Amino acid sequence: MFFDPGFMGTRAPMYLDIVGIFFGILPFLMFFSIRYAIKGDIKKHLVSQAIIFVLTLVFVVIFETGMRMAGGFSAYIEESPVNYTFFITFLIIHVLVAIATFNLWSYQLITSVKAYRKGELKVGTGQRHKKIARILIAGIFVTIAQGVGIYYFLFIM
Ligand code: HEM
Repeated sequence: MFFDPGFMGTRAPMYLDIVGIFFGILPFLMFFSIRYAIKGDIKKHLVSQAIIFVLTLVFVVIFETGMRMAGGFSAYIEESPVNYTFFITFLIIHVLVAIATFNLWSYQLITSVKAYRKGELKVGTGQRHKKIARILIAGIFVTIAQGVGIYYFLFIM
């Protein structure tokens, strides 16, 4: 089932289609969580951010486990006409952006919870928090867009 053909009608296996759906809805989850902050409901903003972070980790683990078990991307690239050098370059940039985004996300979560507990992060005092959030959201969007590109190169092209 895990490695059977997925439901999107491409060459991708089931687990990648499932992971893909999650990353497709991730920006919407972020949007709803940020809406809580805008409305001043910081408790819900915090809890939803923690849930989104953990859910993302779970889907990254599903993705990594499936990829390792399938023999890595090289097992999939054989069926694609994409240029190998171009693909590797694209993949390396994607991995760098994804790792940087993940690190910034972890940093934002830990420092925000700490500051909130100390009473240093409240509605109206989160200028730095908002600045980092903007970079983080851009990082998440770029990572997802690159992921869509990789899916296209490997399973649609
Ligand atoms: C880790 C991912 C997070 C992201 C991407 C994020 C994003 C944001 C954004 C975009 C805003 C601005 C909303 C507006 O325009 O009014 C905001 C505000 C805020 N967030 Fe977060 N947030 C995160 C985590 C947290 C956590 C864990 C806390 C802990 C309580 C927190 C507490 C706050 C507070 C207090 C505000 C209001 C700041 C102010 O009005 O000056 N955030 N957040």
